[in-house]
Amino acid sequence: MPSSKRSSRSSPSPVARCRFLVTSSRRVSGARAAQFGPQGHRRAPPIGTSTLRRENSPVARIFITGSTDGLGRAAAGVLISEGHDVVLHARTLQRAAALSGLAPDASGVVIGDLSSAAETRELADQVNEIGRMDAVIHNAGVFLEPSRSTTADGHPKTLAVNTLAPYLLTALIDRPDRLIYLSSGLHHAGAGSLRDIDWTGRQWNATQAYAESKLQVTALALTLARAWPDVLSNAVDPGWVPTKMGGPAATGDLELGYLTQTWLAVSNDAAATVSGGYWYHRRRQAPAAEARDPAFQDQLMDRLAALTGVALF
Ligand SMILES: NC(=O)c1ccc[n+]([C@@H]2O[C@H](COP(=O)([O-])OP(=O)(O)OC[C@H]3O[C@@H](n4cnc5c(N)ncnc54)[C@H](OP(=O)(O)O)[C@@H]3O)[C@@H](O)[C@H]2O)c1
Repeated sequence: MPSSKRSSRSSPSPVARCRFLVTSSRRVSGARAAQFGPQGHRRAPPIGTSTLRRENSPVARIFITGSTDGLGRAAAGVLISEGHDVVLHARTLQRAAALSGLAPDASGVVIGDLSSAAETRELADQVNEIGRMDAVIHNAGVFLEPSRSTTADGHPKTLAVNTLAPYLLTALIDRPDRLIYLSSGLHHAGAGSLRDIDWTGRQWNATQAYAESKLQVTALALTLARAWPDVLSNAVDPGWVPTKMGGPAATGDLELGYLTQTWLAVSNDAAATVSGGYWYHRRRQAPAAEARDPAFQDQLMDRLAALTGVALF
């Protein structure tokens, strides 16, 4: 029933049909807001009201960070087409324009730059205002930052977007049933980051910073699997795929790159309803030893709590 959700709505303008755009304290001009539909804080329909879900996919509402492009956008598209309630995310209101093809059938669009702790906190508020998510896909990421390029909070952008933001959102968004974190095969090269997680004592190395951030987010996923037995928490390596980040030379299959995270988010298959996995193309792989190490996980959580001022546990 991929198209039934779309066809069941009758509003003439596809863009104006977006149920709501949440911008928290940031105001949107009338013309801008009209692009997306009613502005403000309309409540989303209660979880479980959709009758369009696939039988093996009972999860109703999914928030996907970084859904303006690449894997996040593709994952959002497939979940919406399956009848799920998807909350989209754009870095800025301007970037939300890229969601015009998806927003009409989405449950909401939230805005916030993940390189800013303040905006990330505000983003969590926007998500919570919509209601509790069944699943969150922590997808947004940056790759090779040419320099340490300090954020407003004084951190390298790679650390801020790839590690601190998913950590903060995990702590501040009402706890969902399922959590999925986008990792990378490069995380295997990210060991030893706790000696200088903030890159204050080393010469900047963009590839190493990315690898470390992906090891950290993998460790976060596995920590949560250990600490929260009632939540399914997993990490996914999408492979090297042709997105803005992956570039046109990428040899991986884009569709296989996003179907693991959508499956983990909504499927009721026994294979998908597990926790603590590191996945590649719907198969469990062995993550780096450090990501699995409870001592490393605990130290990492302490460091992230200190860097963000928010304790997850
Ligand atoms: N592509 C690959 O080969 C590959 C391989 C391994 C892992 N991954 C991982 O898969 C995930 C998705 O990658 P992708 O290839 O789809 O990347 P992409 O095409 O570059 O898309 C990244 C998404 O994240 C958003 N984003 C980046 N910085 C942000 C910020 N500061 N605030 C808010 N949103 C921000 C982007 O927003 P804008 O559109 O505004 O830039 C975009 O929506 C990433 O975590 C990445 O590390 C990708």
